[in-house]
Amino acid sequence: MSVIDTSCIVIFGASGDLTQRMLIPALYHLYVDQKLPKSFAILGVSRSIYSDQAFRSKLIKNIKSDKKINEELLNKFCEHLFYQAINTSDVNDYTLLKKRISRINADRELKNNTLFYLATPPSLYSVIPEHLAAVGLNEETDGWKRLVVEKPFGSDLKSAVSLDESLYRHFQEQQIYRIDHYLGKETVQNMLVLRFANSIFEPLWNGRYIDYVEVTGAEALGVEQRGGYYDGSGAMRDMLQNHLLQVIAMVAMEPPAVINAKSMRDEVVKVLQCLKPLSQDDLENNLVLGQYIQSQVRGKCLPAYREEEGVPNNSRTETYVGLKLFINNWRWDGVPFYLRTGKRLPTRVTEVVIHFKKTPHPVFSADAPENKLIIRIQPDEGIMLGFGLKEPGAGFDAKEVAMDFHYSDLKETELLTAYERLLLDLLKGDATLFARSDAVRACWDFVQPILDYQKKSFPLHGYASGTWGPIEAEKLLNRDNHEWRFPCKNLTDTDYCEL
Ligand code: BG6
Repeated sequence: MSVIDTSCIVIFGASGDLTQRMLIPALYHLYVDQKLPKSFAILGVSRSIYSDQAFRSKLIKNIKSDKKINEELLNKFCEHLFYQAINTSDVNDYTLLKKRISRINADRELKNNTLFYLATPPSLYSVIPEHLAAVGLNEETDGWKRLVVEKPFGSDLKSAVSLDESLYRHFQEQQIYRIDHYLGKETVQNMLVLRFANSIFEPLWNGRYIDYVEVTGAEALGVEQRGGYYDGSGAMRDMLQNHLLQVIAMVAMEPPAVINAKSMRDEVVKVLQCLKPLSQDDLENNLVLGQYIQSQVRGKCLPAYREEEGVPNNSRTETYVGLKLFINNWRWDGVPFYLRTGKRLPTRVTEVVIHFKKTPHPVFSADAPENKLIIRIQPDEGIMLGFGLKEPGAGFDAKEVAMDFHYSDLKETELLTAYERLLLDLLKGDATLFARSDAVRACWDFVQPILDYQKKSFPLHGYASGTWGPIEAEKLLNRDNHEWRFPCKNLTDTDYCEL
């Protein structure tokens, strides 16, 4: 097992939402679980002026919203938190930062291992690394230096390539960690164990036995306070280009020789490079873009996307994407993968459904249930296998029954959140669950025709908030005699049933 070195975690964008809501609570939980090294420091960096103490008090508020808080441990954890105000765009301020890091390293007897976490707006992703390099904070002569880049990694293929180029001027690929928090989810990783540690699934995991695959990333919330960011991004860049394509890679990749960063990421990139390029016909017929409109849901009026704060009232940004894609390789030839993601859908659920082909000859009745495997990523994390069983009584009719497993039934462990898992891996220097440059490019390469298509006039379908998206998305499957599953919060409820 990799050991965690003593290290200083420098978080740029320390007064931002990601730091407060995700990173610091995740580090606190790791600390409580004794997963962090004895000696470590967290240095928050941003423009706003705070003393160490004021920074600690600001962060504590968020951690305290967690009911299971241990005051004594929280106070001890806070002793590891520090703050430095700098103008991150001004190279001259980095000398100050370097001095502060050296002082913390000396006081805490850290070994100059430094993790630079860019939790900032993307406009700073190339600026900060360049300024770090200007004062030698990219050099690994006295300890490792790692750079963590949050999504979005670029906004299209060209900008992703140019961001890579600018990072490579100062950091090497093995120092760069591109985060996609979906890869930190226990249930996404479990897809690999399910597939490659069980001999009953893998022989069936191909186009000979699988009819089609659904991937759903549904959210009940709208864009909340992020309208300004979201309008320039849309569901395509916000969810599909990264999270959903990474999920597809886990479902479709070939088995790696071993589980390590190179082997795993080689397989991931291989399958992403096999995504069948989208033709004009695909763009016109296999893609559905939608935007939520106002509706009454459970007695509450939910505003249209165009009425959200920060969104122009003539916006044509998609809050829903439905897409049918294919993977051009031996395993998946001819198997449609249907993806959908959207805001303001009826519930929050992320899942993969593998639909197996029907038996070749219908012995019992023509409408015997299909076999399907539901891999529930969130919530109610688990797996359910649906299959046909004899309807008790006279005759030989088959009815659908299920075998299910819920992670919540496992007593021995609490699942690490995605950020906890990924922060631990960062400190260990394990890049297995981080996107490599070629994989990020392959994803942009695949979605680029959609981004180009959206620059011209394209159909954008309205859907009422609280529904499963535009009717066109249903037609996308119905045309092929397939259907979306309408999942509930609970894995075992087989159809959407929240009232
Ligand atoms: C983020 C997107 O990357 O993922 C958000 O920017 C989205 O818009 C979120 O809500 C979904 O993540 P999760 O873990 O809640 O499924």
